[in-house]
Amino acid sequence: MLTPDTHDPLHVSTELGHLYDDPQAHYGTVNPPVYHASTYTFPDYEAWKANTTGEKPREFTYNIRHNPTTQLLERKIAHLEGADDCIASSSGMSAISMALIGLLNAGDHVLCINTVYGPVRGAFEHLLPRYGVETTFFPAAASADLSDYLRPNTRLIHVESPSTGLFEIQDLRAVAKLAKAKGIWTVIDNTWATPLYQQPIALGIDVSVHAGTKYIGGHSDIMFGLTAGTAAAMKKIRNVYTTLGACPGPDDSYLALRGLRTLHVRLKQHEASGLAVARWLESQPDVVRVNHPGLESFPGHALHRSQTSGDSGLFSFELEPRGEAARAAFVNSLRFFGLGYSWGGYESLLSPLAFQYYGNAALRQELGLRDDQFRVSIGLEGVDDLIADLSAGLNAYRRTDIQ
Ligand SMILES: Cc1ncc(COP(=O)(O)O)c(C=O)c1O
Repeated sequence: MLTPDTHDPLHVSTELGHLYDDPQAHYGTVNPPVYHASTYTFPDYEAWKANTTGEKPREFTYNIRHNPTTQLLERKIAHLEGADDCIASSSGMSAISMALIGLLNAGDHVLCINTVYGPVRGAFEHLLPRYGVETTFFPAAASADLSDYLRPNTRLIHVESPSTGLFEIQDLRAVAKLAKAKGIWTVIDNTWATPLYQQPIALGIDVSVHAGTKYIGGHSDIMFGLTAGTAAAMKKIRNVYTTLGACPGPDDSYLALRGLRTLHVRLKQHEASGLAVARWLESQPDVVRVNHPGLESFPGHALHRSQTSGDSGLFSFELEPRGEAARAAFVNSLRFFGLGYSWGGYESLLSPLAFQYYGNAALRQELGLRDDQFRVSIGLEGVDDLIADLSAGLNAYRRTDIQ
Protein backbone atom coordinates (compact mmCIF):
# COMPACT_ATOMS: atom_id res chain seq x y z
CA MET A 1 0.00 0.00 0.00
CA LEU A 2 1.34 3.43 -0.95
CA THR A 3 1.54 5.70 2.07
CA PRO A 4 2.74 9.33 2.13
CA ASP A 5 6.49 9.73 2.37
CA THR A 6 7.30 12.90 4.28
CA HIS A 7 11.06 12.77 3.53
CA ASP A 8 10.75 12.17 -0.18
CA PRO A 9 7.25 13.35 -1.20
CA LEU A 10 5.79 11.71 -4.28
CA HIS A 11 4.37 13.62 -7.19
CA VAL A 12 0.74 14.48 -6.49
CA SER A 13 -0.41 12.59 -9.60
CA THR A 14 1.19 9.41 -8.23
CA GLU A 15 -0.59 9.98 -4.93
CA LEU A 16 -3.91 10.62 -6.68
CA GLY A 17 -3.51 7.34 -8.50
CA HIS A 18 -2.45 5.08 -5.67
CA LEU A 19 -2.45 6.55 -2.16
CA TYR A 20 -3.78 4.10 0.46
CA ASP A 21 -5.09 1.75 -2.26
CA ASP A 22 -4.55 -1.89 -1.33
CA PRO A 23 -5.43 -4.18 -4.27
CA GLN A 24 -4.18 -7.34 -2.55
CA ALA A 25 -6.72 -6.84 0.23
CA HIS A 26 -9.48 -7.52 -2.29
CA TYR A 27 -8.43 -10.14 -4.86
CA GLY A 28 -5.95 -7.81 -6.62
CA THR A 29 -8.62 -5.55 -8.13
CA VAL A 30 -7.04 -2.14 -8.60
CA ASN A 31 -10.22 -0.36 -7.57
CA PRO A 32 -11.67 -0.67 -4.07
CA PRO A 33 -14.92 -2.53 -3.51
CA VAL A 34 -18.10 -0.53 -2.98
CA TYR A 35 -19.40 -1.55 0.44
CA HIS A 36 -23.18 -1.32 0.44
CA ALA A 37 -24.05 -1.43 4.09
CA SER A 38 -26.26 -0.08 6.79
CA THR A 39 -24.94 -2.33 9.54
CA TYR A 40 -21.76 -4.30 10.24
CA THR A 41 -22.37 -7.40 12.33
CA PHE A 42 -20.25 -8.46 15.28
CA PRO A 43 -18.70 -11.93 15.47
CA ASP A 44 -19.86 -12.61 19.02
CA TYR A 45 -21.26 -11.27 22.30
CA GLU A 46 -17.79 -10.36 23.60
CA ALA A 47 -17.01 -8.17 20.58
CA TRP A 48 -20.39 -6.44 20.91
CA LYS A 49 -19.79 -5.77 24.59
CA ALA A 50 -16.21 -4.50 24.05
CA ASN A 51 -17.42 -2.10 21.39
CA THR A 52 -20.49 -0.85 23.21
CA THR A 53 -18.72 -0.27 26.51
CA GLY A 54 -15.87 1.49 24.71
CA GLU A 55 -13.31 -1.07 25.87
CA LYS A 56 -12.43 -2.05 22.29
CA PRO A 57 -14.32 0.05 19.73
CA ARG A 58 -14.65 -1.42 16.23
CA GLU A 59 -13.93 0.73 13.21
CA PHE A 60 -17.14 -0.14 11.35
CA THR A 61 -20.39 -0.60 13.23
CA TYR A 62 -23.13 1.38 11.51
CA ASN A 63 -22.91 3.16 8.18
CA ILE A 64 -23.92 6.59 9.44
CA ARG A 65 -20.50 6.73 11.13
CA HIS A 66 -18.06 4.96 8.81
CA ASN A 67 -17.96 3.08 5.54
CA PRO A 68 -14.76 1.50 4.15
CA THR A 69 -15.21 2.92 0.63
CA THR A 70 -15.91 6.39 1.99
CA GLN A 71 -13.10 6.14 4.50
CA LEU A 72 -10.55 5.54 1.75
CA LEU A 73 -11.60 8.78 0.10
CA GLU A 74 -11.49 10.65 3.42
CA ARG A 75 -7.92 9.48 4.02
CA LYS A 76 -6.83 10.59 0.56
CA ILE A 77 -8.41 14.04 0.89
CA ALA A 78 -7.01 14.54 4.41
CA HIS A 79 -3.54 13.92 3.00
CA LEU A 80 -4.04 16.20 -0.02
CA GLU A 81 -5.34 19.01 2.21
CA GLY A 82 -2.59 18.53 4.80
CA ALA A 83 -5.42 17.95 7.30
CA ASP A 84 -5.51 15.75 10.38
CA ASP A 85 -8.93 14.37 9.49
CA CYS A 86 -11.59 14.54 6.79
CA ILE A 87 -15.30 13.70 6.75
CA ALA A 88 -17.16 12.94 3.55
CA SER A 89 -20.83 13.88 3.35
CA SER A 90 -23.81 13.88 1.06
CA SER A 91 -23.29 17.32 -0.54
CA GLY A 92 -21.17 20.44 -0.39
CA MET A 93 -23.90 22.13 1.63
CA SER A 94 -23.87 19.35 4.22
CA ALA A 95 -20.08 19.71 4.50
CA ILE A 96 -20.41 23.44 5.18
CA SER A 97 -23.40 23.15 7.53
CA MET A 98 -21.63 20.42 9.47
CA ALA A 99 -18.56 22.62 9.99
CA LEU A 100 -20.68 25.57 11.14
CA ILE A 101 -22.89 23.53 13.46
CA GLY A 102 -19.88 21.70 14.87
CA LEU A 103 -17.88 24.83 15.62
CA LEU A 104 -20.54 27.34 16.71
CA ASN A 105 -22.61 27.81 19.87
CA ALA A 106 -25.54 30.04 20.81
CA GLY A 107 -24.34 33.57 21.49
CA ASP A 108 -21.50 33.41 18.96
CA HIS A 109 -20.82 35.99 16.27
CA VAL A 110 -19.51 35.05 12.81
CA LEU A 111 -17.80 36.97 10.03
CA CYS A 112 -18.53 35.84 6.49
CA ILE A 113 -17.38 37.05 3.08
CA ASN A 114 -20.32 38.93 1.54
CA THR A 115 -20.09 37.22 -1.86
CA VAL A 116 -20.36 33.72 -0.35
CA TYR A 117 -22.31 31.01 -2.24
CA GLY A 118 -26.02 31.94 -1.92
CA PRO A 119 -27.33 28.98 0.13
CA VAL A 120 -24.49 29.45 2.61
CA ARG A 121 -25.50 33.09 2.95
CA GLY A 122 -29.00 31.74 3.57
CA ALA A 123 -27.70 29.57 6.42
CA PHE A 124 -26.05 32.59 8.04
CA GLU A 125 -29.07 34.84 7.49
CA HIS A 126 -31.95 32.51 8.27
CA LEU A 127 -30.85 29.29 9.96
CA LEU A 128 -28.13 30.26 12.43
CA PRO A 129 -30.03 33.24 13.96
CA ARG A 130 -32.66 30.71 15.12
CA TYR A 131 -29.90 29.16 17.24
CA GLY A 132 -28.57 32.46 18.58
CA VAL A 133 -25.70 32.97 16.14
CA GLU A 134 -25.29 36.39 14.50
CA THR A 135 -23.35 37.11 11.29
CA THR A 136 -21.64 40.18 9.86
CA PHE A 137 -20.77 40.06 6.16
CA PHE A 138 -17.57 41.74 5.03
CA PRO A 139 -16.26 42.68 1.57
CA ALA A 140 -13.19 40.91 0.15
CA ALA A 141 -11.15 44.14 0.33
CA ALA A 142 -11.49 44.11 4.14
CA SER A 143 -9.95 40.64 4.47
CA ALA A 144 -6.41 42.02 4.91
CA ASP A 145 -7.46 43.37 8.29
CA LEU A 146 -10.78 42.30 9.78
CA SER A 147 -10.06 43.66 13.25
CA ASP A 148 -12.70 46.41 12.95
CA TYR A 149 -15.35 43.75 12.32
CA LEU A 150 -14.53 41.68 15.38
CA ARG A 151 -16.72 41.56 18.46
CA PRO A 152 -15.78 40.02 21.80
CA ASN A 153 -17.95 37.00 20.86
CA THR A 154 -16.66 36.51 17.27
CA ARG A 155 -15.93 32.79 17.05
CA LEU A 156 -15.66 31.95 13.36
CA ILE A 157 -14.63 33.51 10.04
CA HIS A 158 -16.00 31.94 6.88
CA VAL A 159 -14.29 32.70 3.57
CA GLU A 160 -14.71 31.51 0.00
CA SER A 161 -11.63 32.41 -2.01
CA PRO A 162 -11.91 32.92 -4.88
CA SER A 163 -15.60 33.61 -4.43
CA THR A 164 -17.58 31.80 -7.08
CA GLY A 165 -19.61 34.61 -8.67
CA LEU A 166 -17.21 37.53 -9.08
CA PHE A 167 -14.07 35.65 -7.96
CA GLU A 168 -12.90 38.10 -5.35
CA ILE A 169 -9.77 37.03 -3.54
CA GLN A 170 -9.51 37.10 0.24
CA ASP A 171 -6.20 37.35 2.04
CA LEU A 172 -6.03 33.91 3.62
CA ARG A 173 -2.78 34.44 5.53
CA ALA A 174 -4.07 37.67 7.08
CA VAL A 175 -7.44 36.12 8.00
CA ALA A 176 -5.73 33.10 9.57
CA LYS A 177 -3.19 35.21 11.47
CA LEU A 178 -5.81 37.47 13.03
CA ALA A 179 -8.10 34.54 13.83
CA LYS A 180 -5.33 32.54 15.49
CA ALA A 181 -4.32 35.53 17.62
CA LYS A 182 -7.94 35.86 18.82
CA GLY A 183 -8.80 32.16 19.15
CA ILE A 184 -11.32 32.29 16.29
CA TRP A 185 -12.06 29.30 14.01
CA THR A 186 -11.53 29.78 10.26
CA VAL A 187 -13.39 27.89 7.54
CA ILE A 188 -12.78 28.16 3.81
CA ASP A 189 -14.82 26.90 0.89
CA ASN A 190 -11.94 25.54 -1.21
CA THR A 191 -14.07 24.09 -4.01
CA TRP A 192 -12.80 26.40 -6.78
CA ALA A 193 -9.10 25.68 -6.34
CA THR A 194 -9.32 22.10 -5.02
CA PRO A 195 -6.56 20.85 -2.67
CA LEU A 196 -4.27 20.61 -5.70
CA TYR A 197 -4.10 24.37 -6.24
CA GLN A 198 -4.78 25.80 -2.78
CA GLN A 199 -3.68 24.44 0.59
CA PRO A 200 -5.48 26.59 3.14
CA ILE A 201 -4.45 24.55 6.18
CA ALA A 202 -0.77 25.26 5.42
CA LEU A 203 -1.74 28.96 5.36
CA GLY A 204 -3.20 28.68 8.85
CA ILE A 205 -6.91 28.07 8.11
CA ASP A 206 -8.57 25.47 10.37
CA VAL A 207 -11.12 23.84 8.08
CA SER A 208 -11.31 23.42 4.31
CA VAL A 209 -14.66 22.39 2.85
CA HIS A 210 -15.49 21.20 -0.65
CA ALA A 211 -18.45 20.61 -2.85
CA GLY A 212 -17.04 17.33 -4.21
CA THR A 213 -19.99 17.65 -6.58
CA LYS A 214 -17.74 19.91 -8.71
CA TYR A 215 -14.14 19.17 -9.78
CA ILE A 216 -13.48 16.19 -7.51
CA GLY A 217 -16.44 14.24 -8.90
CA GLY A 218 -15.78 15.92 -12.22
CA HIS A 219 -18.55 14.31 -14.26
CA SER A 220 -21.72 16.03 -13.00
CA ASP A 221 -23.16 12.77 -11.74
CA ILE A 222 -22.82 12.98 -7.94
CA MET A 223 -23.60 15.23 -5.00
CA PHE A 224 -20.75 15.07 -2.54
CA GLY A 225 -19.15 17.03 0.30
CA LEU A 226 -15.82 16.99 2.10
CA THR A 227 -14.78 18.68 5.35
CA ALA A 228 -11.08 18.51 6.19
CA GLY A 229 -9.27 20.24 9.01
CA THR A 230 -7.07 20.34 12.05
CA ALA A 231 -7.52 17.76 14.81
CA ALA A 232 -9.05 20.32 17.19
CA ALA A 233 -11.65 21.52 14.69
CA MET A 234 -12.47 18.09 13.31
CA LYS A 235 -13.04 16.67 16.80
CA LYS A 236 -15.90 19.14 17.22
CA ILE A 237 -17.22 18.51 13.72
CA ARG A 238 -17.11 14.71 14.10
CA ASN A 239 -19.24 15.15 17.22
CA VAL A 240 -22.15 16.41 15.09
CA TYR A 241 -21.56 14.26 11.98
CA THR A 242 -23.60 11.30 13.19
CA THR A 243 -26.32 13.54 14.60
CA LEU A 244 -26.78 15.25 11.25
CA GLY A 245 -26.89 11.92 9.44
CA ALA A 246 -25.29 13.36 6.32
CA CYS A 247 -23.21 10.34 5.29
CA PRO A 248 -22.80 9.84 1.54
CA GLY A 249 -23.90 6.68 -0.24
CA PRO A 250 -21.02 4.31 -1.05
CA ASP A 251 -21.63 4.52 -4.82
CA ASP A 252 -21.09 8.27 -4.69
CA SER A 253 -17.96 7.77 -2.58
CA TYR A 254 -16.72 5.37 -5.24
CA LEU A 255 -17.41 7.88 -8.02
CA ALA A 256 -15.64 10.60 -6.03
CA LEU A 257 -12.66 8.25 -5.61
CA ARG A 258 -12.66 7.60 -9.33
CA GLY A 259 -12.90 11.31 -10.09
CA LEU A 260 -10.00 12.03 -7.78
CA ARG A 261 -7.66 9.78 -9.78
CA THR A 262 -7.87 12.07 -12.83
CA LEU A 263 -8.32 15.39 -11.03
CA HIS A 264 -4.83 16.71 -11.89
CA VAL A 265 -5.21 15.94 -15.61
CA ARG A 266 -8.69 17.45 -15.85
CA LEU A 267 -7.79 20.48 -13.79
CA LYS A 268 -4.81 21.28 -16.03
CA GLN A 269 -7.12 21.25 -19.03
CA HIS A 270 -9.83 23.29 -17.30
CA GLU A 271 -7.12 25.78 -16.33
CA ALA A 272 -5.59 26.08 -19.81
CA SER A 273 -8.93 26.26 -21.62
CA GLY A 274 -10.40 28.61 -19.01
CA LEU A 275 -7.52 31.05 -19.36
CA ALA A 276 -7.64 30.83 -23.17
CA VAL A 277 -11.37 31.64 -23.20
CA ALA A 278 -10.92 34.38 -20.58
CA ARG A 279 -8.13 36.02 -22.61
CA TRP A 280 -10.19 35.79 -25.78
CA LEU A 281 -13.20 37.36 -24.03
CA GLU A 282 -10.97 40.13 -22.71
CA SER A 283 -10.12 41.07 -26.29
CA GLN A 284 -13.76 41.32 -27.41
CA PRO A 285 -15.25 44.81 -27.82
CA ASP A 286 -18.58 43.86 -26.16
CA VAL A 287 -16.84 42.60 -23.04
CA VAL A 288 -16.52 45.19 -20.29
CA ARG A 289 -14.64 43.04 -17.82
CA VAL A 290 -13.54 39.46 -17.22
CA ASN A 291 -13.52 38.25 -13.62
CA HIS A 292 -10.82 35.58 -13.75
CA PRO A 293 -8.25 35.69 -10.95
CA GLY A 294 -5.58 34.20 -13.25
CA LEU A 295 -5.68 37.26 -15.54
CA GLU A 296 -3.02 39.87 -14.88
CA SER A 297 -5.75 42.54 -15.30
CA PHE A 298 -7.81 41.11 -12.41
CA PRO A 299 -7.59 43.33 -9.30
CA GLY A 300 -6.83 40.46 -6.89
CA HIS A 301 -4.37 38.73 -9.23
CA ALA A 302 -1.16 39.31 -7.22
CA LEU A 303 -2.76 38.18 -3.95
CA HIS A 304 -4.26 35.20 -5.76
CA ARG A 305 -0.86 34.13 -7.10
CA SER A 306 0.67 34.49 -3.64
CA GLN A 307 -1.70 31.92 -2.10
CA THR A 308 -3.01 29.75 -4.96
CA SER A 309 -0.77 27.79 -7.33
CA GLY A 310 -3.19 27.35 -10.24
CA ASP A 311 -6.59 28.17 -11.68
CA SER A 312 -9.64 26.09 -12.34
CA GLY A 313 -12.06 26.80 -15.17
CA LEU A 314 -14.83 28.82 -13.50
CA PHE A 315 -14.99 32.59 -14.04
CA SER A 316 -17.41 35.32 -15.06
CA PHE A 317 -17.55 38.20 -17.49
CA GLU A 318 -19.64 41.28 -18.04
CA LEU A 319 -21.01 42.52 -21.38
CA GLU A 320 -21.74 46.04 -22.54
CA PRO A 321 -25.43 46.46 -21.56
CA ARG A 322 -27.83 45.87 -24.47
CA GLY A 323 -30.98 44.76 -22.69
CA GLU A 324 -32.72 41.51 -21.88
CA ALA A 325 -33.59 40.49 -25.44
CA ALA A 326 -29.89 40.66 -26.36
CA ARG A 327 -28.97 38.62 -23.31
CA ALA A 328 -31.54 36.00 -24.23
CA ALA A 329 -30.27 35.92 -27.84
CA PHE A 330 -26.70 35.38 -26.56
CA VAL A 331 -27.64 32.54 -24.22
CA ASN A 332 -30.05 30.84 -26.63
CA SER A 333 -27.57 30.82 -29.48
CA LEU A 334 -24.92 28.84 -27.56
CA ARG A 335 -24.43 25.22 -28.61
CA PHE A 336 -21.89 23.93 -26.11
CA PHE A 337 -22.69 25.85 -22.94
CA GLY A 338 -25.50 24.20 -21.04
CA LEU A 339 -27.61 26.56 -19.00
CA GLY A 340 -27.07 25.17 -15.52
CA TYR A 341 -26.36 26.05 -11.90
CA SER A 342 -23.43 23.77 -11.30
CA TRP A 343 -19.80 23.77 -12.44
CA GLY A 344 -16.58 21.76 -12.35
CA GLY A 345 -17.78 18.96 -14.63
CA TYR A 346 -16.47 17.78 -18.01
CA GLU A 347 -19.11 19.86 -19.78
CA SER A 348 -19.18 23.61 -20.21
CA LEU A 349 -21.97 25.47 -18.43
CA LEU A 350 -23.16 29.04 -18.32
CA SER A 351 -25.27 30.85 -15.75
CA PRO A 352 -26.59 34.39 -16.18
CA LEU A 353 -26.06 36.35 -12.97
CA ALA A 354 -29.02 38.62 -13.77
CA PHE A 355 -31.38 36.76 -11.46
CA GLN A 356 -29.14 36.15 -8.46
CA TYR A 357 -30.83 37.67 -5.39
CA TYR A 358 -33.66 38.59 -7.73
CA GLY A 359 -35.71 41.47 -6.35
CA ASN A 360 -33.06 42.49 -3.82
CA ALA A 361 -31.54 45.47 -5.65
CA ALA A 362 -29.64 46.74 -2.60
CA LEU A 363 -27.86 43.44 -2.05
CA ARG A 364 -27.11 43.07 -5.77
CA GLN A 365 -25.58 46.52 -5.73
CA GLU A 366 -23.55 45.78 -2.59
CA LEU A 367 -22.20 42.58 -4.11
CA GLY A 368 -21.43 44.14 -7.50
CA LEU A 369 -23.92 41.96 -9.38
CA ARG A 370 -25.17 43.29 -12.74
CA ASP A 371 -27.70 42.08 -15.28
CA ASP A 372 -25.10 41.68 -18.01
CA GLN A 373 -22.79 39.33 -16.11
CA PHE A 374 -22.47 35.66 -16.99
CA ARG A 375 -20.59 32.92 -15.20
CA VAL A 376 -19.00 30.15 -17.25
CA SER A 377 -17.59 26.81 -16.25
CA ILE A 378 -15.15 25.87 -18.98
CA GLY A 379 -15.33 22.14 -19.62
CA LEU A 380 -13.12 19.72 -21.48
CA GLU A 381 -14.43 20.38 -24.99
CA GLY A 382 -12.07 21.72 -27.66
CA VAL A 383 -11.25 25.29 -26.70
CA ASP A 384 -11.59 26.47 -30.32
CA ASP A 385 -15.14 25.12 -30.39
CA LEU A 386 -15.96 26.96 -27.18
CA ILE A 387 -14.54 30.23 -28.46
CA ALA A 388 -16.37 29.85 -31.78
CA ASP A 389 -19.57 29.21 -29.83
CA LEU A 390 -19.13 32.32 -27.68
CA SER A 391 -18.19 34.32 -30.76
CA ALA A 392 -21.45 33.33 -32.46
CA GLY A 393 -23.26 34.16 -29.22
CA LEU A 394 -21.73 37.63 -29.12
CA ASN A 395 -22.74 38.17 -32.75
CA ALA A 396 -26.32 37.32 -31.80
CA TYR A 397 -26.00 39.68 -28.81
CA ARG A 398 -24.92 42.55 -31.10
CA ARG A 399 -27.53 41.85 -33.78
CA THR A 400 -30.39 41.87 -31.31
CA ASP A 401 -29.52 45.38 -30.19
CA ILE A 402 -29.82 46.90 -33.67
CA GLN A 403 -33.15 45.26 -34.55
C1 LIG B 1 -18.88 27.50 -3.99
C2 LIG B 1 -19.87 26.44 -3.66
N1 LIG B 1 -19.82 25.88 -2.44
C3 LIG B 1 -20.70 24.94 -2.08
C4 LIG B 1 -21.66 24.50 -2.94
C5 LIG B 1 -22.65 23.49 -2.47
O1 LIG B 1 -22.38 22.24 -3.00
P1 LIG B 1 -23.55 21.16 -3.19
O2 LIG B 1 -24.38 21.63 -4.33
O3 LIG B 1 -22.81 19.89 -3.43
O4 LIG B 1 -24.33 21.14 -1.93
C6 LIG B 1 -21.74 25.02 -4.23
C7 LIG B 1 -22.76 24.54 -5.17
O5 LIG B 1 -22.95 25.07 -6.25
C8 LIG B 1 -20.83 26.03 -4.60
O6 LIG B 1 -20.87 26.61 -5.80
